[in-house]
Amino acid sequence: MCGIFGYVGSHADAAGIVLRGLKKLEYRGYDSWGVAVAQDAHVVLEKSIGKIGDAAPNLPPSTIGIGHTRWATHGGVTQPNAHPHLDCTGHLALIHNGIVSNYRDLRDPLARAGHRFQSETDTEVVAHLLEEYLTRTPAGPEQLVTATIAAFRKLHGLNAIAVLDVSTGQMAAAKSGSPLVVGWSGHGHMLASDYSALLEHTRRVTFVDDGQAVLVSRDTSRLFDVDTGRELTPEITEVEWDVAATELGGYPDYMTKEIHEQPAMLRRLAEQWGDHARRLAQALREARDVFVIGCGTASHAALAAQYLLARIAGRRVNVATGSEFAYLRDFIGEGSLVLALSQSGETIDIIDAARAARQRGARIAALVNVEGSTLWRLADVAVPLGAGPERCVLATKSFTAKLAILMMTAYELTGRVEAGAALVRDAADEIARLLTDDRRDLIRRVADEIYRREHLFAIGRGPSYPLALEAALKIKEVSYVHAEGFAGGELKHGVIALIEPGTPCVVLAPRDETHDDIMAGAMEVKARGALLIGVSPEAHEAFDYWIPVADLGPATAILNAVPAQLLGYYLALLRGHDPDKPRNLAKSVTVK
Ligand code: AGP
Repeated sequence: MCGIFGYVGSHADAAGIVLRGLKKLEYRGYDSWGVAVAQDAHVVLEKSIGKIGDAAPNLPPSTIGIGHTRWATHGGVTQPNAHPHLDCTGHLALIHNGIVSNYRDLRDPLARAGHRFQSETDTEVVAHLLEEYLTRTPAGPEQLVTATIAAFRKLHGLNAIAVLDVSTGQMAAAKSGSPLVVGWSGHGHMLASDYSALLEHTRRVTFVDDGQAVLVSRDTSRLFDVDTGRELTPEITEVEWDVAATELGGYPDYMTKEIHEQPAMLRRLAEQWGDHARRLAQALREARDVFVIGCGTASHAALAAQYLLARIAGRRVNVATGSEFAYLRDFIGEGSLVLALSQSGETIDIIDAARAARQRGARIAALVNVEGSTLWRLADVAVPLGAGPERCVLATKSFTAKLAILMMTAYELTGRVEAGAALVRDAADEIARLLTDDRRDLIRRVADEIYRREHLFAIGRGPSYPLALEAALKIKEVSYVHAEGFAGGELKHGVIALIEPGTPCVVLAPRDETHDDIMAGAMEVKARGALLIGVSPEAHEAFDYWIPVADLGPATAILNAVPAQLLGYYLALLRGHDPDKPRNLAKSVTVK
């Protein structure tokens, strides 16, 4: 949550460079933003509530700047609470990602010592704490990073902080928990929460590990150990993605772009991910027991994996939501494999779960989209998701990529990975047709009919149950319609009481052993006046709207994710919402 960006170099447009970096990070939080640059040994600051949009900060030329895009945790969404925060001297500008859980204990003695606070945030306390330590740290080239380390050691919680010091023209940062990378370019050095914001300048990055600090100046970046203060040798990695992959590329928004990237992505996975599926299958073979974990959309992929592995490979796996996994840890030990699913690789509940499992002797396999992320570096077996940059807060292509790779892995467990790849190809072709033929307009018409409704249900049985959960999540996340997904058989155990005349109900009815039972459930809600939106290879007189989809066997799950992605998108537009940055959300959840 929150996006951090900093630049020091030879270009005098630090404010512009920082703002462009923040725009690339805005999916991490968009409650407010702020940029600070140095001018004549003073910090000049601009901060504002809301999304950056087309804002052009009125800041002076400078070769050093720092900026932040916020997801509010402590203190309301106000201009004073926006970052960066200054110290009393006005020489330090500090930004932060995380939660300083002991900020009150730190603030009170600072206030008694005369420090004046302008905001309600935990972050501003750090600026004044650093101010204190700077006065106690001998001057010298490492004064700023030494004081930053001293202040950082006092903070409790998962945090990344970065500070700009106008008196030295340097930046320093430290992290534990929240992500931070350093960018190395020919015209300067940068700090960012993730490397997609650096690609305009460089693909050479250093992933800062927990308990490390950096000192960044025009000529170089230096890495230090927070515990010992010892200098370390930074490891520079050349990342895969290029800046074009992070651009809109002519699409109206990232949600549309990423939905339309699915066919090509799935074809690429079918062609090139066989070896990755073999590695994952081998890890499953070697495991005594397996837990598949994820949060949000990734938890739905984990549940889908349970059905895919059971039906295709006869392999039983346990599934847990990342934030609940800690309470099941007693079952984890030597011989256990935890397969962690995550687009960002930074979801704190998943990282904590993986760390706790490792401490109990389990092996960690991870299916991650952001290579080099914390989960990627933590895993024993790291498998790339291969979805490319995903900027829309809603996970779309990263979900279908997970299902495709997990299905290929299940087929590999029976020695038939090619059969799995062939089905992924079929899903790619059918999704390509769905995105271009009249079914897309049909889904838009469905949205036209129901967009004023405040409640919606999605039902499915067996392998379609996780897809019903995912359909509801997509629709509620982006359109704010209160959508709920259910196992079709659960309707009569309470939920059906919520059905009123006209209540929309998405029915996932593939041609498999669940078909007749799910249609029986659909008829029961129809009898209470529900408006049925059938997603099925077969028409049915009960459907008010029938979205015909091919029967692709186990790959139907991949295909059936897309109609709800589109329905959610059109509902969002009709209800006047930003499909890329839904309210109150952020792309990767790095705080508890
Ligand atoms: C999905 O649309 C949401 N963005 C959210 O539920 C997301 O799936 C969840 O936060 C997990 O993120 P991760 O895959 O990056 O770990």
